[in-house]
Amino acid sequence: MDHAAPKDIEPIAFELNGEPVALAAGPFTSLADALRGVGMTGTKIGCDAGDCGACTVLLDGEAVCACLVPLAQVRDRRVSTIESVDHDALVDPVAESLANAFSHHGAAQCGICTPGMMQAARALLTHVHAPTRAEAEVAIGGVLCRCTGYIKIVDAICDAPNDLRHSRTPGGVGARVQYVDAQQKARGTTKFGADRAPVDALWLRVIRAPYASATFTFGDLDAFKQRHGLDAVLTARDVPGRNSFGIFPNTKDQPVFAERHVRYRGEAVAALVGSRDSVESIDAAAFPIAWTETRGLHGVESALAPQALAIHDTHPDNVLTRGNLRCGDVAAGHVRAAASADGNFETPFVEHAYIEPEAGYAERDGDTITIAASTQAPYMDREETAAVLGIPETQVIIAPTACGGGFGGKLDVAVQPFLAVAAWTLNKPVRMVYSRIESMASTTKRHPSTITAKASADAHGRLTAYEMTGDFNTGAYASWGPTVANRVPIHAHGPYKVPNVWNRTRAVYTNDTPAGAFRGFGVPQSAIANETLMDDLAQKLGIDRWTIRHINALRVGDATASGQVLSASAGLAPCLDALKPAWDKALIDAAAHNATNTRHKRGAGIACMWYGCGNTALPNPSAMRITLERDADGGAVFRVHSGAVDIGQGVSTVLLQIVHEALAVEGAVIALTPDVGNTAKTPDAGKTSASRQTFVSGNAARLAALDLRAKLVRLANVGEGAPIRLDGAALVIGREQRRVALTDLPPNLEGHGRYDPPTTLLDADGQGTPYATYGFAAQIAEVMVDTALGTTKVLHIHAAHDVGRAINPMLVEGQIHGGIAQGLGLALMEEFIPGKTENLHDYLIPTAGDVPPVTIHIIEDAEPEGPFGAKGVGEPALVATAPAILSAIRHATGVTMRRVPVLPHRLWQALQEQEAS
Ligand code: FES
Repeated sequence: MDHAAPKDIEPIAFELNGEPVALAAGPFTSLADALRGVGMTGTKIGCDAGDCGACTVLLDGEAVCACLVPLAQVRDRRVSTIESVDHDALVDPVAESLANAFSHHGAAQCGICTPGMMQAARALLTHVHAPTRAEAEVAIGGVLCRCTGYIKIVDAICDAPNDLRHSRTPGGVGARVQYVDAQQKARGTTKFGADRAPVDALWLRVIRAPYASATFTFGDLDAFKQRHGLDAVLTARDVPGRNSFGIFPNTKDQPVFAERHVRYRGEAVAALVGSRDSVESIDAAAFPIAWTETRGLHGVESALAPQALAIHDTHPDNVLTRGNLRCGDVAAGHVRAAASADGNFETPFVEHAYIEPEAGYAERDGDTITIAASTQAPYMDREETAAVLGIPETQVIIAPTACGGGFGGKLDVAVQPFLAVAAWTLNKPVRMVYSRIESMASTTKRHPSTITAKASADAHGRLTAYEMTGDFNTGAYASWGPTVANRVPIHAHGPYKVPNVWNRTRAVYTNDTPAGAFRGFGVPQSAIANETLMDDLAQKLGIDRWTIRHINALRVGDATASGQVLSASAGLAPCLDALKPAWDKALIDAAAHNATNTRHKRGAGIACMWYGCGNTALPNPSAMRITLERDADGGAVFRVHSGAVDIGQGVSTVLLQIVHEALAVEGAVIALTPDVGNTAKTPDAGKTSASRQTFVSGNAARLAALDLRAKLVRLANVGEGAPIRLDGAALVIGREQRRVALTDLPPNLEGHGRYDPPTTLLDADGQGTPYATYGFAAQIAEVMVDTALGTTKVLHIHAAHDVGRAINPMLVEGQIHGGIAQGLGLALMEEFIPGKTENLHDYLIPTAGDVPPVTIHIIEDAEPEGPFGAKGVGEPALVATAPAILSAIRHATGVTMRRVPVLPHRLWQALQEQEAS
């Protein structure tokens, strides 16, 4: 175990997965910690406070949070963990059937919640052979999942009693292939950031600021180090290279360790390095540091006030950057309109709440350092940590662990610089794991926004003008603020044809938690304003809400407000068409219900979205490599060396399907490198963000497969499209059936592919081609509002998404489910307040009981630029949900909510005001 147990402590004996064991641990050691300490890392710790349920195990057959159970309480009792599945399938056939059902249904995306889910489900299935969906939802009600929206988890639990051992579907594009790592995740063997490190690794703990704005001086750090037997106390003076990091070349503004003053609550000032017990036993209040709190600037209004002090000397007005898109004559467009609508809108900080807190380790070997951590952007991590260490990037290896959820939050470095400085300067392996509170307090959030917008339309409902100004609180450091400020103006008027547009944004520095990338890069915020105004216009003009969207939907041949003519794959109108029957029915159902009910009001809402796949008007390349290798049996394996980090969305699976299709080798075994994302072993596929991996890396993989195929057919001197078949230890190529023995193939036979989407720089008015393709979607929300309490229950979501081509429909559904759950949280529940909601009992995310049934329509309006027609869906899944729910609340109650989340007290207040007016 990592914790050194007191020498005279009596081991606790109990039964673990059917075997007697005895563990010795300190008096306060939790069962979760004790299990992980002996290498049973299938039990995850997501919060260490009983809020997330990731550590759920069975104690005498009942599901419990292992983080809340002291080891002493399990004496002479039965404990069962996820490892029991692998231990021996016959010991627990329920667990085995659950593992197969989770794999079959795609119920594990990132997989960090899966062990806890599986245990909660086991407890249910032990008592109920064929559970209902409601029973399954109750059973997993205490286990949080941030990826899946729970629907496929419930599918799996209900289907587990059936024998799904042999349900694997092979195949290429269009097949419902299981996640490539489904079985590992369902058996708890996937290794995340906290799950492994060198046995002699030291532990690192960061000392963080308790104030949002303060100066500080250190006391005697050497004496402190000696007194506590630490290996090091690291501060800014110990950073060998540049004491700062950031996303863009001109925004390296965030220090690894603050120097003299801090700009947000939770900022790092020092790090303690030593044995786990020594660093964890230190009371942070005893750390020798003297603070002088200064007045902070919270919210954009205070930061933009005329007398506001500059948070960074480089930006005297606290404006990090501005975004702009302008076309036509907006004033004239408003003047010639039959109706106009305007409003002010407000959204809060939103926390990513991935269930895996940031974790990893670093290890130095001579002039090289390896950092194994949970990340979405290994090559960017390499660049930043090399600069922090002051060494060439070639001396830094980023070896990503499995990523237990990211959603944009792991695009910035977190543990990496600390680990790098410690391991490099001490020349010892060092590991660290963020606590839940540390993760929430210190890492980036969705930008809070304040938006003012105005939309106009003619008497037929055709939009004539749209304008918006939006301020986005980027917090103390830049992070992805420039990306948000630049992406929003392009999208803010929605997926509609608007001749006159003027959208302006500012990313504003404050003394709040840094805001960064979060599923949508600001577009979900601006969509709330845009879609609410579409409803306003529909109401003013007496046009149905579905109809006004259909009238204005961007179609092939239309020019966007950026001047980009959409030459293909603009499938919003088909999305709306697919939803029309559900829309008509939802309106009828609401009217029928409301005719006889006064307190509970039913409503239907609708919203649309679009989303440019990939970086905004910037190079965006991905590279892939495929090798043909001999396996131990003399057969052949086509191995895909992918640098595209899979954060649970399933890009690894998608890439294998694309390679399968493009390679077109009958009988081929196509496998994934075990070193996905390793910067020393895989080419740079770019970051996993902006819904780009299927589109961009998918293209790179397709090209690599075609390159390798071309090399194979050349060997047989046959034409490009010749069939290839693997037959034992030989390739059979061409209609002439030429046999090429694998032993006769040249060594190092491999295919290479590289793809960079065709985009252009934008001019000062945002004109150009910012993205090669766009995802489109429309969603309907049906809600029930309790007007006496102000509560909103989402009854059903209907979602139609134009994905170009669904490489894997099951994975597309999973992304849509998960995005909808996050959109529901944005609309109704989630509000991060620094210093107040830094844990998962004060910050609420949707549970299984909050997510309604979802009906999905996959629209395949093929994108010629995409791999086999595909484009991204990760972010599009979320954007339309919140405005659709707001639209439904308004339909139910007549109240237009312009601030999210629509917490019960806010809606209740609005209802009271409506009644009084
Ligand atoms: Fe549940 Fe990622 S699969 S948290």
